[in-house]
Amino acid sequence: MTMQEHIKADVVEPSKPCYILAIETSCDETAVSVIKDGTEVLSNLIASQIDTHQAFGGVVPEVASRKHVESITYMLEEAVEKSGIEPEELSAVAVTQGPGLVGALLVGIVAAKSAALAFDKPLIGTHHIAGHIYANALTSELKYPCMALVVSGGHTELVLMESEGSFQVIGRTRDDAVGEAYDKVARAIGFPYPGGPHVDRMALESDEVTPLPRAWLEADSYDFSFSGLKSAVLNAINQAKMKGEEIHPGAIARGFQESVIEVLVEKSVRAMHQFKAKQLLLCGGVAANRGLRAALQERCEREGIELLIPPMKYCTDNAAMIGAAAYIKWQHGESSALDMKADPGLSLEHWSVQRTE
Ligand code: KG4
Ligand code: ZN
Repeated sequence: MTMQEHIKADVVEPSKPCYILAIETSCDETAVSVIKDGTEVLSNLIASQIDTHQAFGGVVPEVASRKHVESITYMLEEAVEKSGIEPEELSAVAVTQGPGLVGALLVGIVAAKSAALAFDKPLIGTHHIAGHIYANALTSELKYPCMALVVSGGHTELVLMESEGSFQVIGRTRDDAVGEAYDKVARAIGFPYPGGPHVDRMALESDEVTPLPRAWLEADSYDFSFSGLKSAVLNAINQAKMKGEEIHPGAIARGFQESVIEVLVEKSVRAMHQFKAKQLLLCGGVAANRGLRAALQERCEREGIELLIPPMKYCTDNAAMIGAAAYIKWQHGESSALDMKADPGLSLEHWSVQRTE
């Protein structure tokens, strides 16, 4: 067979279980999972590189790729072994195709292609953000139309899903992603990478609050902007330094967190009503933020909105979520050619399932 071809899937029999081997290497976690029927996680391995990157204050792409190479082979073996199934029983091999760091994505893709060829199973290139969204399907049944609030280190998006596997981005950040803003603010007040959890903790513990602006943008826009807020934080710190005043990291953290949360909650709730969505799906690394979770829970309860939040282990990067998103493609009979390329700018909307009806 040529590399332009797809390895054909076995005939889908409703009575036969679907096992997907999924790989995620888009950033600084190497992750491999085997999942059954898109929801049951049989194995879920994650090797975090945070300790390595911490010394540099952020993710170093070349180092990330090298670390993925070191771990991927034995993690693949271990994930299949732990799942209790035989490689021949697999239905497909899924891998994050993008977005992400190109060199990091490439490691997962080469590993996935090798496994697909070795086991003669179809390859399913998967969108990282679709993975974050479908992490919710690992623990709850999704009801369409639904709305996803994606908040991670690289993304801040409101995504409308009219039906299974259809994605429409109705709002996105115009500058920094929310997690990125958290990490930069954390660095400015003296915390190591990744700073989000530190800012979260400081914000919840502080009695004081530094007043900071909210970026609402145009009245009808679902877009976000966090760079102005980040600059306001840096200005507040610089001004205090120039005046010889004491800096209160807790007050800054709380002011920053309150500003971020108010805008995220307000825009999500407005979108839910406008698009008559049945569920709000919170996802991405920043979904671990305790302040955001509490504020959304409280507001959704008041508004009668059903809110889904995945367990912590499925909020940050993992491969089970990639398997969950790939399962939708598998059900629709879609797969990727063996010459599939890493795509750092892969569009979520284009990744939607192709409906022929
Ligand atoms: O989704 P993720 O694991 O990786 C990306 O795909 O980006 O998200 C990582 C981001 C980092 O910016 C980290 O600081 C942030 O999630 N984060 C948090 C919290 N826990 C992780 N941000 C705010 N509060 C938290 N508790
Ligand atoms: Zn992610």
